[in-house]
Amino acid sequence: MKLPTKIAAGLLALVPAGAIAQDCPVDGDPSELAAEAVVKVYECIEAKMAEGYAKNGDPTGSDFRSWQVTSTRPALAGPHGERFLQTFANGIAAEQYLKFAEEGFVMPAGSVLAKESFKVKKGNAVPGPLFIMTKLADGGAPEAGDWFYAALLPSGKEMKIKQSFCAGCHMNWEDQDSLAYPLEEVRLSNQ
Ligand code: HEC
Repeated sequence: MKLPTKIAAGLLALVPAGAIAQDCPVDGDPSELAAEAVVKVYECIEAKMAEGYAKNGDPTGSDFRSWQVTSTRPALAGPHGERFLQTFANGIAAEQYLKFAEEGFVMPAGSVLAKESFKVKKGNAVPGPLFIMTKLADGGAPEAGDWFYAALLPSGKEMKIKQSFCAGCHMNWEDQDSLAYPLEEVRLSNQ
């Protein structure tokens, strides 16, 4: 159901703040959630995440949900701060990314990958940053594998990041053009 913004805002004003904070409850240890439970939490939180990132006005923050999703559901992965992650690939990136190739390729310039995230805090799912990688033209950022890294906070504000921080870890996957890919059990099969 989609309410006109004004009415929706009015309804929200009637709900005590504490009730909103309990919007997407998660029982137990997040790392032990069954796949269906993760999907349920995602269904609860996805609109809130998309709305927040879109506030930035940056086209990636507004458009990424219409891109190719690359996993069957969000999954909890360690390296991005114990967050549930789900990556989307733009039209330039999708075909090559979905091969999850381990060597022998370079992503085409203009490829963009956007990874939404959420975290469980005190038994409640809350949006995390949208992590973004953009492939520059050959030689655009040699020290970072020609990738430009960025991130938007759940509020839509740009997150201050260091290229070397993101690239420093992603370059561990040098043979696969700095791409780490979703966990194997949730990768969307391209076959
Ligand atoms: C400590 C290592 C590490 C650091 C630091 C790191 N990442 Fe990642 N990143 C990963 C891993 C591992 C994945 C795959 C996780 C998954 O989706 O399951 C990933 C995935 C991604 C993806 C999806 C594309 C892909 O690689 O498959 C984007 C976009 C991304 N990271 C952006 C960033 C940005 C922006 C930063 C800096 C703010 C950053 N990363 C810092 C490890 C890291």
